[in-house]
Amino acid sequence: SQPPIVEIVADRDTLIAQALNVVMTHIAAAIADRDRCTLALAGGSTPKPLYAALAQQDLPWDKIHIFWGDERYVPPSHPDSNEAMARQAWLDQVPFPPANIHPMPTLGGDPAGDALAHEQELRDFFQVAPGEFPALDVVLLGMGPDGHTASLFPHTAALDVVDRWVTVGDKDGEPRITLTRPFLNQARLVLFLVTGDNKQPALREIFSPTGDDRQYPARSIQPQGTLHWLLDQAAGAVLQG
Ligand code: 6PG
Repeated sequence: SQPPIVEIVADRDTLIAQALNVVMTHIAAAIADRDRCTLALAGGSTPKPLYAALAQQDLPWDKIHIFWGDERYVPPSHPDSNEAMARQAWLDQVPFPPANIHPMPTLGGDPAGDALAHEQELRDFFQVAPGEFPALDVVLLGMGPDGHTASLFPHTAALDVVDRWVTVGDKDGEPRITLTRPFLNQARLVLFLVTGDNKQPALREIFSPTGDDRQYPARSIQPQGTLHWLLDQAAGAVLQG
């Protein structure tokens, strides 16, 4: 695959402005090529102003389908819910057809069952042949200071899942719902948004030829399409000479 784009910008505001550019370009390309755009959202604090900026754009909402890279196992009304954050900042602010929003279910008290149910929803949506994985157009990801991304945490079983689209992640014993590595790696664009100097140790390992994918799961995101790391100066300084 192509080498990653690594872009280091001065501060968070510049990072959000540049993320908006990149996402708008890829949304337009997907709609021009396939008449729809499939977009997976991230949680964390960094993408929230991006969602607010997207809410201000004039986009054909009926052609955009929203998914999530992962979800905390809390009800959608919970303050920790990634779905709630995105709805508040963006999705509820524009006329999205409700059927275009595909949250991860977290109400069953059965994370494995919910992961399976969400995978079935994705299979019904994408309609690919058995054994094949579809390509999301745009995947937004964050990275934790420990190198996790989506809910793929260091040294957890979710990292080994190769035959499923959706599985159960494990954050210190707490279940999460997460897209799997092989599913994420089909994407046409993966855009990592990473801010803050507490991300430097993980970034150093991720960009080292001898880094460990199981210790730093974000290192194993190597999509078929474009891999774009967008870092603020506080995070990216570690990669500069
Ligand atoms: C979590 C966190 C995590 C988050 C990263 C980056 O659920 O464990 O939300 O996945 O995305 O830690 O977060 P920031 O964007 O806030 O730095």
